[in-house]
Amino acid sequence: MVKNHIKDINLAPQGRKRIEWADNDMPVLKAIRERFEKEKPLQGKKMSACLHVTAETANLARTLKAGGADLVLVASNPLSTQDDVAASLVKDYDISVYAIRGEDNKTYYDHIRAAIEHGPVVTMDDGADLVSTIHSDYPQIIDQILGSMEETTTGIIRLRAMHNDGALKIPVFAVNDAQTKYLFDNRYGTGQSTVDGIIRATDFLIAGKKVVVAGYGWCGKGFASRMKGMGANVIVTEVDPIKALEASMDGFMVMPMIEAARIGDLFVTITGDIHVLRKEHFEVMKDGAIVANSGHFNVEININDLETMARDKILGVRENVDQYNMANGNRIFLLAQGRLINLAAAEGHPASVMDMSFATQALTTEYMVKNKMTVDVHEVPDEVEHWIAIAKLKSMGITIDELTEEQKKYLASWDMGT
Ligand code: ADE
Repeated sequence: MVKNHIKDINLAPQGRKRIEWADNDMPVLKAIRERFEKEKPLQGKKMSACLHVTAETANLARTLKAGGADLVLVASNPLSTQDDVAASLVKDYDISVYAIRGEDNKTYYDHIRAAIEHGPVVTMDDGADLVSTIHSDYPQIIDQILGSMEETTTGIIRLRAMHNDGALKIPVFAVNDAQTKYLFDNRYGTGQSTVDGIIRATDFLIAGKKVVVAGYGWCGKGFASRMKGMGANVIVTEVDPIKALEASMDGFMVMPMIEAARIGDLFVTITGDIHVLRKEHFEVMKDGAIVANSGHFNVEININDLETMARDKILGVRENVDQYNMANGNRIFLLAQGRLINLAAAEGHPASVMDMSFATQALTTEYMVKNKMTVDVHEVPDEVEHWIAIAKLKSMGITIDELTEEQKKYLASWDMGT
């Protein structure tokens, strides 16, 4: 059996069913896998991927392996691993996995180290923990790395900060910033899976509630619009004036968090930043307020503040719900320990959007292997995005118009005016 550290290999049959079910909704990735089987563009390349270990990721891992990669997969978050999927990857697909749902911080980093000690020439990250650990603790392997792919907004922010500091030493593709990723995964994927996680955790009726969405990036936009569609009164908080304007003209109330904190029933942070909900906000929240995070790291809600302000707490009043009894007599319910609610309390984004995100990952990996890239945070090549959009449309049975010769000429001219 391939090297692994997983919860229980006997969970493999259930995991395999989930992987196959997700694959039904990942036709673009499947087409890439079939080509990779024949062409083997990643033949013999050692790869390490630090991603959420889900059924959708399993299909990406199968695709990279079909391309010839020698892959190790580790968790990018301690609470998002689907243990049955991890078992099936090891047993049925011979892919090395180090991931256990609920692993502690030490185990989480032991797994990241196992991925690095595999000796990768290509890496893939969701949150940049793998790349940042390589840079800080394993500088000796940097020269062998052709490059890395980054899946999420938070990871891109970290990588750009590294680059601006002169600390980044390897080429990176900002997969998150591809249109085939953020327009669909961030907006519709996070939008739907965040609702799913909150409802599974609380069984809360959305209609009529005041829902406060912190952050109006693509993820916040998607979630806010889904909440509106379900009948919530949505309040958006922002620090960016353009995004705040956009939220206002999209029909949402916009105000500072200190005002929203007094009236909200449900608070969801999706900003990528630290301590968006903190002491001053908890102090004025209503009895029964629910707080959740859908950003990548569990830093958006200051849990330390909650802990020190609470008289006591009752863990697990429902699965994924902890009740904090505040000194002022109010209760605040924290979901999934402030970890990303869509993967901790639900199953992450649906396969159909991960199809495009992971097709982007697979094709960008192929591009990285075939082209020598400079040290920078690069955009995904246009041809990759174009191919994926056409393939996805085709899989959905949608055809579109083509420019006529006359239209092409018109668009290419500057003197044809009125
Ligand atoms: N990120 C969000 N949803 C995901 C999923 N289903 N699989 C992997 N990564 C994800």
